[in-house]
Amino acid sequence: MASSSSSYSSITCVSFLLFLHLSCFTNNLNAKHRNADNSHNRHHKHHHTQNPPLNPKLHMAFLGLQAWKHVIYSDPNNFTSNWVGPSVCNYTGVYCAPSIDDPKVTVVAGIDLNFGDIAGFLPHEIGLLSDLGLLHLSNNRFCGILPMSLTNLTLLYELDLSNNRFVGPFPLVVLSLPMLNYLDLRFNEFEGPLPPQLFNKPFDAIFLNSNRFTSSIPPNLGKISATVLVFANNKFGGCLPENIVNVADTLEELVLINTSLSGCLPQQVGFLYKLRVLDVSFNSIVGSIPYSLAGLSHLEQLNLGHNMMSGIVPMGVCELPNLANFTFSYNFFCEEEGICQNLTSKRIVFDDRRNCLPEKPLQRSKKECETKLEHPVDCSELCCVVGSNVSSGSLAAPPAVAMPVEAGAGKWGTPSLYPSIFANSQSGKNDHKG
Ligand SMILES: *[C@@H]1O[C@H](CO)[C@@H](O)[C@H](O)[C@H]1NC(C)=O
Ligand SMILES: *[C@@H]1O[C@H](CO)[C@@H](O)[C@H](O)[C@H]1NC(C)=O
Ligand SMILES: *[C@@H]1O[C@H](CO)[C@@H](O)[C@H](O)[C@H]1NC(C)=O
Ligand SMILES: *[C@@H]1O[C@H](CO)[C@@H](O)[C@H](O)[C@H]1NC(C)=O
Ligand SMILES: *[C@@H]1O[C@H](CO)[C@@H](O)[C@H](O)[C@H]1NC(C)=O
Ligand SMILES: *[C@@H]1O[C@H](CO)[C@@H](O)[C@H](O)[C@H]1NC(C)=O
Ligand SMILES: *[C@@H]1O[C@H](CO)[C@@H](O)[C@H](O)[C@H]1NC(C)=O
Repeated sequence: MASSSSSYSSITCVSFLLFLHLSCFTNNLNAKHRNADNSHNRHHKHHHTQNPPLNPKLHMAFLGLQAWKHVIYSDPNNFTSNWVGPSVCNYTGVYCAPSIDDPKVTVVAGIDLNFGDIAGFLPHEIGLLSDLGLLHLSNNRFCGILPMSLTNLTLLYELDLSNNRFVGPFPLVVLSLPMLNYLDLRFNEFEGPLPPQLFNKPFDAIFLNSNRFTSSIPPNLGKISATVLVFANNKFGGCLPENIVNVADTLEELVLINTSLSGCLPQQVGFLYKLRVLDVSFNSIVGSIPYSLAGLSHLEQLNLGHNMMSGIVPMGVCELPNLANFTFSYNFFCEEEGICQNLTSKRIVFDDRRNCLPEKPLQRSKKECETKLEHPVDCSELCCVVGSNVSSGSLAAPPAVAMPVEAGAGKWGTPSLYPSIFANSQSGKNDHKG
């Protein structure tokens, strides 16, 4: 848990321009909360007024927001009830800032409707909001597909659509956004294969968990420069490709819970030297723990639980200096080397249940263990089949269950990249997901 928030500290230093843009954001927000007495000072300090006259860009935004309001069918928290009239900068959830191109021109630079419980869809006219840097729509009931006009949002930096009801194939339109850095699509109903191009984008964080994506982790996985990859609860299949090592210079969190992974863990996982979180639980991984994992000196959370791994739990892993939580339950490990037998003494939270550890309680039956031992796995001989390409059709995903983010992803809740921006927003609701 400590994990998610700290990894983002590095992301906060984004390009200088953007920083400027966003810090103005904050100023503007503060302005909103000051009373009129200060307005003179404010004018002096910032070169825009609280309710700027409608410039052409704000007028476009006005048209876009009105079209959007028109296709909102339910808004129980009244987020959009004050979306009336041309003062778009006064609308709930809408944030204005000086334009990057021309600081004298105020534009709509951010929209945060997180936790709105709003039902509706994104109209074509969303393309009129062409100055948006942030679009946060988490925890609503937006449905349908993403309009192609999103491609007009050439400054969009963060797109959070998590916990909505978006459907259709992977929304290729997001790959056309040149500035996009943070993409969060989790807890929707996107389906089908992931486009290989996704892995050529310089995104910093990609959250795709709990959709209906099928097919493999593409063999070109390595080309991205992400710090966080969360792909849990999809039906990828196949093994973890060795070229995961290509992402070693950036990757801090790799979460592949319940993604139908099979095969052995490649030695290359141990070369991801910045990893703080490695979670491959609830898969069908076989073979032993690569000894290379002993090199992950930043690793804090290691979860190998609910797989079919066997062999020994190597001492080098238990001695990792930052390891705080090591779960390897529900496998077939038969020996804990050295200090691994006494993780309590290292104050490491652990779970070793349901293995074949002779001296430990709550293990599998002798029969179960013997059956498994009769068929040892030799990882050096096992070919890595990248992607089993689970076909759709007869193997179609079961009907979607509306799963609250809190239940499945609390731990991976979106850390706020710019906590200050929305800190004072009217609703008081920001990125926290549980
Ligand atoms: C939203 O507005 C309606 C009508 O004005 C009101 O009845 C309702 O209580 C409001 N809901 C909230 C959550 O403020
Ligand atoms: C915008 O909001 C401010 C207070 O937050 C208010 O004084 C002002 O009248 C509003 N402007 C319009 C046009 O509604
Ligand atoms: C894209 O944005 C420009 C302004 O930057 C606007 O003129 C145009 O209509 C927008 N296109 C769409 C499809 O919304
Ligand atoms: C694994 O993911 C599938 C969807 O791909 C979901 O239906 C299932 O409940 C998940 N299992 C666990 C243990 O989370
Ligand atoms: C340790 O990790 C497991 C698996 O990820 C998790 O369920 C458990 O809550 C964690 N325990 C602590 C104390 O962080
Ligand atoms: C584990 O280590 C602690 C302190 O280091 C010691 O008191 C305890 O007896 C050890 N337990 C076992 C089972 O070796
Ligand atoms: C999966 O297999 C089907 C049929 O064999 C093929 O048409 C499809 O392109 C494959 N998908 C991927 C992502 O490889």
